[in-house]
Amino acid sequence: MQRLVVVSNRVPLPSEKGPRAGGLAVALADALVPGSLWFGWSGRRAARPGAEPAVQTSDDITYATIDLSDTEYRQFYAGFSNSVLWPLLHFRLSLQHFRAEDYQGYRAVNRRFAAALARLLRPTDRVWVHDYHLIPLGAELRALGVRNRIGFFLHTPFGPPAITQALPHGNALLASMCAYDVVGFHTETYRTAFVDCVREMLGGKPDGDGRIGFGTCAFTAIVDPIGIDAEAFARMAATSSRGAESQRLRASLGDRKLAIGVDRLDYSKGLLSRMDAFGRLLERYPHHHREVSFLQIAARSREDVNDYRDLGEELNRIAGDLNGRFSEFDWVPLRYMTRPVRRRTLAGFYRFAHMGLVTPLRDGMNLVAKEFVAAQDSADPGVLILSRFAGAADEMTDALIVNPFDADEIAEAMHRALTMNLEERQERHRSLRQRVWHSTARRFCEVFLDHLGRDEDDLPASAGPDQTEGASLASFGGA
Ligand code: ADP
Ligand code: F6P
Repeated sequence: MQRLVVVSNRVPLPSEKGPRAGGLAVALADALVPGSLWFGWSGRRAARPGAEPAVQTSDDITYATIDLSDTEYRQFYAGFSNSVLWPLLHFRLSLQHFRAEDYQGYRAVNRRFAAALARLLRPTDRVWVHDYHLIPLGAELRALGVRNRIGFFLHTPFGPPAITQALPHGNALLASMCAYDVVGFHTETYRTAFVDCVREMLGGKPDGDGRIGFGTCAFTAIVDPIGIDAEAFARMAATSSRGAESQRLRASLGDRKLAIGVDRLDYSKGLLSRMDAFGRLLERYPHHHREVSFLQIAARSREDVNDYRDLGEELNRIAGDLNGRFSEFDWVPLRYMTRPVRRRTLAGFYRFAHMGLVTPLRDGMNLVAKEFVAAQDSADPGVLILSRFAGAADEMTDALIVNPFDADEIAEAMHRALTMNLEERQERHRSLRQRVWHSTARRFCEVFLDHLGRDEDDLPASAGPDQTEGASLASFGGA
C-alpha cells in the first residue's frame, strides 16, 4: 500500500498537548490515515539543529520533525514566510518587509527540509506539501532526484498578477510551484489567479482543463475547499455545552445574548474593524446595551513579527476604550482574551452563542466559520456573520455576508442577527449545515489525493525546472 507523507511547517506533535490555533493542523489531524508520515518543523529552536529528524509514533502515525536554528527561525519563519509571503498572499503589499538574507534563509531551510525528507522517502510514497512556508520544497526534492508524485496545497489566498508581481523573487517561486504534480487552492478565484500568474509572469500554457504546461513540466491546478469533521465537532459541541466552562460562561451572562469571535491575533482577521463595528452597534442601537456581550478570543500569534505586536497593542487600546465608553457598573460589553482556548471548550461556547463574527479582510478558507455552524443547536441556531473575502463565503452563502472593510455594514449585520426571528435563523442554518456536512476534512483529503494518484505512470519527464534563479527564469522565459 502507498504511504501518505504530509509535509507542513507546523506539525501538531502528539507529545505536545494543548490548544492549537491554526486551521491547517486542525483539518489534517482530522483526516490522516494510519500508517502516514507527517514531516516538518518541531516548533523548537536549537543552537545547532541536527540534520536527522526526531521521530515519534502515535496512533500509527509517524511524526518526523527537525528543529530550526535561531537564524533560520528569524529568516525563514518570522522573516520571508511571515513578513513577506503572508502579507503579500493576503493582498497587504505595504506590510511586506523584504530582506535579501531572509529570502536566502527561506530557500536554505527548504533545501534542508528536502534533504532530510528525501532520506525518509520510499519510492511509492505520495508526498503532500502544505502552505506558503514550503513553496519551493517540491522543486528541491526534484533537484535531489525524487520522482514520487508530489502535491502542494496553499492554505492562503492567491492574488492576481497585479499583486503577485510585487513579490520579490516572485517569478522564481512561481516557477518552483510548477515542479509539483498537483497544486491545490480553496477557491476558484485563487486557482484562476494562480493560472493567470503562471501564464502572464512565466509564459506557462494552461489548457483550459486545469492542466498547465511550463517548460518540461506539466501539472494540474485544482480547487479543493478544506472542511472539518462536522459530525464529530457537532457532538463535541453538544457535550461541551453541558460542561463546566460553558456553564460558567452561561451563568456569567445571565439573560444576555452572546456574540463570539475566535481568531489568531492576525491583521488578516479584521479584528480592528470588527471591534469598531461593535462600538457602532452600541452607539446606534442603545437598546442593545446590556442585551449582548461580545466575547472575542484572539490567540496571540507570531509575536516575533513587529506588525503582530503592533496589532496586539492597538487592540488592547481599542478594547479598553470601547469598554470605558460603554460599560455600566454591572455590564461589560466586550470580553477580550488573547490566550488560546481548547477546541472542545470553544465548541461549547459557539453552540451557546447567538451570533458568530468571522470577518477577515482576506482568508484562504476560515475554519472557524464552519466550526460555528457545526456547533449550533438546529432548534435554536445562532447567526453567522461572514466576510465576503473569506474563502468560506463561496460555499456559505446563507450567512450574513459583509464587507469587512465597512464597519457600518458589520454593525447593521449584528443588529439584524440580534433581531432575526427563529424561522429565518433555522432556514439559514439548515442551508449552511448542508454545506459544512458536504465539504468535510475527509472529503478535502480524498479529493486532493485522488488527483495526486492519477496518471501514476506519467512521471515527470525531467527533474523539474532548474531552481537556481537565473536558470529557472532563462529556461522558462520568466521575466
Ligand atoms: P488560520 O488557519 O488562519 O488560523 P482558520 O480559521 O482556518 O484560520 O483556523 C483556525 C483554527 O484554529 C480553528 O480550528 C480554530 O478553532 C482554531 N483557533 C483559532 N483561534 C483560536 C483561539 N483564539 N484559540 C484556540 N483555537 C483557535
Ligand atoms: O493557515 C494558515 C497558517 O499559517 C497555518 O499554516 C498555520 O498552521 C497557522 O496559520 C498558524 O500559524 P503559525 O504556524 O505561524 O503559528
